[in-house]
Amino acid sequence: MKLIVTKDEQQGGLEGFKVFQEALQNNAQTFGLATGSTPITTYEQIVQSDLDFSNCISINLDEYVGIKPDNPQSYRYFMNKYLFNQKPFKQSFLPNGLAQNSKQEAADYDQIINQHPIDLQLLGIGQNGHIGFNEPGTSFDLTTHVAKLTESTIQANSRFFKNINDVPKEAYSMGIGSIMKSKKILLEAFGTQKADAVAAMFNGPVTIDVPASVLQNHPDVVVIADEAAAAKVN
Ligand code: F6R
Repeated sequence: MKLIVTKDEQQGGLEGFKVFQEALQNNAQTFGLATGSTPITTYEQIVQSDLDFSNCISINLDEYVGIKPDNPQSYRYFMNKYLFNQKPFKQSFLPNGLAQNSKQEAADYDQIINQHPIDLQLLGIGQNGHIGFNEPGTSFDLTTHVAKLTESTIQANSRFFKNINDVPKEAYSMGIGSIMKSKKILLEAFGTQKADAVAAMFNGPVTIDVPASVLQNHPDVVVIADEAAAAKVN
């Protein structure tokens, strides 16, 4: 894994943007995307740029179960707001949080991923080392599934909701098995609250207790961390 340490989040966002730019230059077609605070600075850079994704496909990592796409808390809403409204893609996929049959929805999403192999997958990292909503203890072989959010993730995500009880308890998540098939992976991490997870990902053993540690087994991973998030890496 390659580590790029930046002064701050803003600079990190710019470095992340450059990875997208290079991928496009290398004819990347399919981009795996993430939500949350972390990718926002990179999305801002993309939106301000003249990069053209109109022939590209995006496949997002996850979506809350039970939330409508037009709900401001949904990940579809987030993606429209921060990226797609300003930078349209040919097609953009997220799991359907309202699907009646979750097993079928997960299988359909896997089929989409198989039909469109991901050239560049953008990831954030949870304070507990999760990637997507693959929480500690999740098998490395899983494909798309409904994940139960841990208390620590519910706590962390409650900042986007009026009340912690409104945070959904489940989400569809791309599995680690699918994430690892991406040609290239870009993981961004900003802030001291990510320092332990980033250190465990780099220096610790590869273990399902720290889902991001699996990235040690991937041949092409770039981690962009600000000084605070990289502080505990050996
Ligand atoms: C979001 C996702 C999550 C986040 C992680 C970090 O699509 O898959 O794994 O990347 O929870 O969240 P932030 O960026 O809000 O700190």
